[in-house]
Amino acid sequence: MLLIPVSLLTGIDYPVASQNHLANWIEVTMDLANKTAFITGGASGLGLATARNFVAAGANVMLFDLNTESLEQAAKEFGAQSIWQAGDVADESAVASAIATTKEKFGTVHINVNSAGIGGAARTVGKNGPMPLEKFEHIVRVNLIGTFNVLRLCAEVMQLNEPVTEDGERGVIINVASIAAFDGQTGQAGYSASKGGIVAMTLPIARDLGKRGIRVNTIAPGVFETPLLSRAPDEVKEPLIAITQFPKRLGHPDEFAVEAAHIVTCGYLNGETIRLDAGIRMPAI
Ligand SMILES: NC(=O)c1ccc[n+]([C@@H]2O[C@H](COP(=O)([O-])OP(=O)(O)OC[C@H]3O[C@@H](n4cnc5c(N)ncnc54)[C@H](O)[C@@H]3O)[C@@H](O)[C@H]2O)c1
Repeated sequence: MLLIPVSLLTGIDYPVASQNHLANWIEVTMDLANKTAFITGGASGLGLATARNFVAAGANVMLFDLNTESLEQAAKEFGAQSIWQAGDVADESAVASAIATTKEKFGTVHINVNSAGIGGAARTVGKNGPMPLEKFEHIVRVNLIGTFNVLRLCAEVMQLNEPVTEDGERGVIINVASIAAFDGQTGQAGYSASKGGIVAMTLPIARDLGKRGIRVNTIAPGVFETPLLSRAPDEVKEPLIAITQFPKRLGHPDEFAVEAAHIVTCGYLNGETIRLDAGIRMPAI
């Protein structure tokens, strides 16, 4: 069970009588203990931090990623609560095989976090001509089609779960977009299209899957200190920090992980995209 004191969950110190009432309410939300999460991009950054948080709360995790070396390292850290499989999120048979492995080891999938993703900046027309169509297609294929591929196959399994809450909840899907879905910068046509697609499909998928007891939400992160950015020089980080409202720093992957756990445990949150960005709004360049 994820231990969230009532006062932390609500931000208010309720008198004991109301705490009893809220404790009952909490029982009807999904908790992480003994649940199984299929986490793409689970070998690095936001996906890895989410896996770490989920494992600490008693969940089992399947880490699905392209990077075998990082997968091995993460699985060593998480021990018996984890398994991993290398593969491409946009590859139907690789994902189906990893889901089958997850079912064999842990019985089912309750939670799916889709954190695998790539960047790839290029202007629509640059010095060398128009953006190569293959580049645009590749970004959309990994980020958007890959996300849909994984979530549809996970949902197929989730719908067969025994309900885990009084509402009949059987599964939770968490997609990862980006603030580039809303404030795409110069050179981000492909990336923004892929992430905008994730935001746009969140509600219709929640509508498709509601009758099957599955909630679907998306997190749109601002700028987080994942391996990609922590290697960047200060000249890259400082202007980004300067346009963040508060707090004046990059996001920590653990903060993303807290939000992912919140989505799992807050049973009334559905069909929504949450900006997690300390109030940043990106300029054109
Ligand atoms: N870090 C940020 O500031 C930030 C901001 C907004 C959105 N995001 C999004 O968050 C997600 C995670 O980003 P991160 O910063 O943790 O990046 P990261 O590079 O640390 O992790 C992404 C992981 O996805 C894996 N991956 C890439 N392509 C894959 C594929 N085709 N199949 C399977 N795995 C694949 C990589 O191997 C890597 O381990 C991405 O979707 C990214 O677009 C990140």
